[in-house]
Amino acid sequence: MIDIIEKTRDKAELTQKDVERLVSGIVDGTWPDYQVVAWLMAAYCQGLRDEEVFWLTDAVARSGSQTADPLGLADKHSTGGVGDKTTLIVAPLVASLGVPIAKMSGRGLGHTGGTLDKLESIPGFRVTLSRADITKQVERVGLAVVAQSGELAPADRKMYALRDVTATVDSIPLIAVSIMSKKLAGGSPNIVLDVKVGNGAFMQSLDRARELAQLMVRIGAYHGRNVRALLTGMDCPLGFAVGNAIEINEALSCLRGNGPKDLREEVIALATHMVSMTRGIAAEDAMSQVTRALDQGLGLAKFEEWIEAQGGDVSTLRQDLPLAPYREEWVADRMLTVQRIDTHAVGRVALELGAGRQRLQDPVDHEVGLLCYAKPGKTFKVGEVIATVYARTEGDATAGLRGLQRAVEFGGSASSEDDKIVIEVIGA
Ligand code: URA
Repeated sequence: MIDIIEKTRDKAELTQKDVERLVSGIVDGTWPDYQVVAWLMAAYCQGLRDEEVFWLTDAVARSGSQTADPLGLADKHSTGGVGDKTTLIVAPLVASLGVPIAKMSGRGLGHTGGTLDKLESIPGFRVTLSRADITKQVERVGLAVVAQSGELAPADRKMYALRDVTATVDSIPLIAVSIMSKKLAGGSPNIVLDVKVGNGAFMQSLDRARELAQLMVRIGAYHGRNVRALLTGMDCPLGFAVGNAIEINEALSCLRGNGPKDLREEVIALATHMVSMTRGIAAEDAMSQVTRALDQGLGLAKFEEWIEAQGGDVSTLRQDLPLAPYREEWVADRMLTVQRIDTHAVGRVALELGAGRQRLQDPVDHEVGLLCYAKPGKTFKVGEVIATVYARTEGDATAGLRGLQRAVEFGGSASSEDDKIVIEVIGA
């Protein structure tokens, strides 16, 4: 153990055997936490070579059960942001074009939300299915989105929990190993990664986001998977809605052909790459199929079929899901142009309203949330609504609105709202 820690500390090369010993020691508990943390900190400070990253990803992916015979042909993963409800739209959209999807999703933690919490706003929806039920559902409906089983990459779970409390999360090789080990274990041959860039994301600079994306694409290639990474903007929440039921409502609006422009653009881009990779067709052809499926309501029909298959009451979706009773609006009292949004702070407002959790075991309130219409460069005229908060109590509504007012800075001049949400595509 000490030899392996020393090697990484001194930037000496680990062998594949060293990496395998490290991972098996983590899983079987023969490496005590303090030695695992010492190694993680050494890797955080000194970095890892590509081969070490490839071997580590493979060993972590093999540390639990793996899907040898993948049910889904395309998978997606987001590095996490505020208002990111893309899976709710992209998964049925892609499935409506005949590409089977069996996706494992997570819960919200800290300032970012989780797909499973959003889905559980729909009465009756079940996120835990047996492997046999997932298989049947994917065969029948072409789509299942379920909770990650504890058996998937358990070495990552252990390492992530230790990184989280030892200031070693923010490391490009460690993040790449963590994400890609779960994607490899999930088995899908085609993987689209949504790497968020901006003040609401893990990666705040474009250079770091690009470095992470390139490394994940190389990991995929080494392991024979087809991986593309989209660098997408996170300098404001995606769309307007942040919360749980409120994000389902916005996802439905997008599936009905409406919804915020940035959300629609990102959803079409992600679905396009998933379809083009799986079918081996040009991105332009895939994009026209995806856009047609969205505008003709095929994605919406598939969404309803999927929700029903997982026990959700689709009759509740005919109109918007109900939201918390105390509603407060922030209305522009003069002409205002948005200069900057502290996206992380907007995420924290939703968290404090009760939409998210600080610890994984905390409950969430599905009905609270917010709509933030502010986007950098956007101008509000007098009387226009900048944001709305939906809270459980009057006090929470007022505090939430104040939090948003602190998060949005005005000034400067109006700029085009035509900024592209997809900044770059890596691996195409
Ligand atoms: N998401 C993950 O799954 N792992 C990380 O390390 C960071 C983001």
